[in-house]
Amino acid sequence: MRVSVDHHSVADTFRPAVFLQRGGTPLLLRLVYHVRRSIGTHGLLRAFSIAWFHSCERLGDAWFGIETRQPQPLDLGTLCYDYEATDYRVIKAGLRLISARHRDVVFLDYGCGKGRMLAVAATHSFRRIIGLDVHAGMLAAAKENLSRMRRRARCADIELANSDAMVFEVPDDVNAIFLFNPFSLTVLEVVIRRIKESLERTPREITILYLHLTDEPDPFADLDWCREIAALPVARHLALRCPVHQTSIDRKSG
Ligand SMILES: C[S@@+](CC[C@H](N)C(=O)[O-])C[C@H]1O[C@@H](n2cnc3c(N)ncnc32)[C@H](O)[C@@H]1O
Repeated sequence: MRVSVDHHSVADTFRPAVFLQRGGTPLLLRLVYHVRRSIGTHGLLRAFSIAWFHSCERLGDAWFGIETRQPQPLDLGTLCYDYEATDYRVIKAGLRLISARHRDVVFLDYGCGKGRMLAVAATHSFRRIIGLDVHAGMLAAAKENLSRMRRRARCADIELANSDAMVFEVPDDVNAIFLFNPFSLTVLEVVIRRIKESLERTPREITILYLHLTDEPDPFADLDWCREIAALPVARHLALRCPVHQTSIDRKSG
């Protein structure tokens, strides 16, 4: 306390921001201060949603022993987006839905980043999991994360592909696809063509989870060979939505 009074006025010393910056301030006091400030800024419901979100983020990474929380700028140009991980709760809901719809899952994550989605998918008994990313550094981080959580994995066949999604040929056994806002609509249109080519070679039902910004259109909604079957719950403060689409197996469609 004396150190603080030496450097700040007495009134300053007891201002919350100064008081809480001092080393040794009890954790509970700091917590109460941050909770009050967050409620004051965001309102009760939104503050609760944010607090819950950050707790799940920390707990999720700690549970798997991985590091995926830190967003990362990647300098990939305007058409391809930076790294940011998907909310654990969206991942859980999405994988549950996929498991309920398909018995033998071959799962593809477009723009897998540091591999959070792959790590959680690996805890399911999927036949095969493919993580695709254009950025080699992201794939190296994904590889490291997957090796750290190996003892929790139930799927042994996990493949990492370093490729641009625009040129990647969709394997004809893929029946579940996830995209978390990896690239612009220009790239997505080409990717949709690649998916369609695979469906023409091997007609089948593919479940597509497309997590994207609420103010951007969903091009899957305009396809006559896809129909929206559900939407996953997304934290209210994130301004994201996650429709789930199912492809039609009709050869003549589209
Ligand atoms: C928002 S992150 C998604 C992270 C991951 N899917 C997850 O859920 O945790 C977007 C990722 O897409 C990758 N990406 C961007 N453009 C790409 C492209 N054209 N082809 C493949 N990957 C791309 C980026 O390198 C980045 O890692």
